[in-house]
Amino acid sequence: MNIIVIGFGFIGRGVIEAFLRKAERIRRLDEDFRVVGVSDSRGYVYDSEGLDLKRLIGVDELSQYPSGYCRGGSAEDLIEMEGVDLMVEATPTNVVDGEPGLTFMRRALRRGIHVVTSNKGPLVVAFHELKSLAEEGGCQLLFEGTVAGAIPIFSLVRESLQGDEILRISGILNGTTNYILSRMHFEGTSFEIALKEAQERGITERDPSYDVDGIDAACKVVILANALMNRDVRFEDVERTGIRRVTQEAVSLAKRSNFAIKLVGTIDRRIEVAPKLVPINHPLCVHGTLNAVHIEADLAGEITLVGYGAGRETVSAVLNDVLTVLKSEAKKKG
Ligand SMILES: NC(=O)c1ccc[n+]([C@@H]2O[C@H](COP(=O)([O-])OP(=O)(O)OC[C@H]3O[C@@H](n4cnc5c(N)ncnc54)[C@H](OP(=O)(O)O)[C@@H]3O)[C@@H](O)[C@H]2O)c1
Repeated sequence: MNIIVIGFGFIGRGVIEAFLRKAERIRRLDEDFRVVGVSDSRGYVYDSEGLDLKRLIGVDELSQYPSGYCRGGSAEDLIEMEGVDLMVEATPTNVVDGEPGLTFMRRALRRGIHVVTSNKGPLVVAFHELKSLAEEGGCQLLFEGTVAGAIPIFSLVRESLQGDEILRISGILNGTTNYILSRMHFEGTSFEIALKEAQERGITERDPSYDVDGIDAACKVVILANALMNRDVRFEDVERTGIRRVTQEAVSLAKRSNFAIKLVGTIDRRIEVAPKLVPINHPLCVHGTLNAVHIEADLAGEITLVGYGAGRETVSAVLNDVLTVLKSEAKKKG
């Protein structure tokens, strides 16, 4: 298969490194696997015979790749190239209009190109449209990396809960706010100091309101509701309260009663993100930057998954989605 990678940042580069590291496993599924194009916001590199991945991860900037850098060229040019089978999309998240990723995904799916993405924006803005385009184009749209990083929530439901109906989901879906609330819980730190610590550790978004006002968690709730519970939920439908008004006194009081205050996203009759009291011995009650997703299914009952919601672990989710596509294509060929 011919792969293009759109976005050569933390995730895009990490995925290419993973392709190299797991080359043997990949080749067992597809001996013709090659990355033919990679783009950033300023241009792209393309080679129909396959790019040299070792060289690619050795450069600081895409433009330093030894041959064929097309300055001013866009990801859309790559999508239009002959013979592209799969696009890994890892451009910045924009939850206002989903761009630039939304345009790239629409274009790719219309051309029958499989899409694997870690970018929430397009899915928050146009989930059902993109799913329909994938169906019409006879291709897959996979997005494990968009919610709870490395936690395989979508593949778990897709593969292992095929007969179940998902009745309710609740989750700690933002590692930054969980870090802040954990510092407040264990160290008695104030919200302001814990936020400053999180910023110093580089784990907040550039605009911290994205984390602390629950915007990021609300986006994930939208994707979970649409993808796993067949709802038609938009960002505005999520009742959202962040953690700015959680005081040290409230956290201490909760702690004395064996609870922790956590920012919880819930999909039930109500769809909301809000600080909640979680019993300290509940499986959802994870600390630090960990995420947790608790699902209630009609046959399986309650299942909780815990893991890292962001960072390099996210590459595992993206790679797994790519391998899922390779496997199903290999099956088709017989
Ligand atoms: N980092 C994580 O831990 C994590 C975890 C889960 C999900 N995600 C999501 O994964 C996506 C990528 O994250 P990241 O951390 O890799 O971001 P990043 O480091 O900021 O990289 C973004 C990349 O996208 C490129 N880009 C921007 N506009 C583009 C355009 N119009 N056409 C082509 N490329 C364009 C940027 O190019 P320039 O360098 O030229 O600007 C850059 O290479 C985001 O949507 C993010 O929310 C990230």
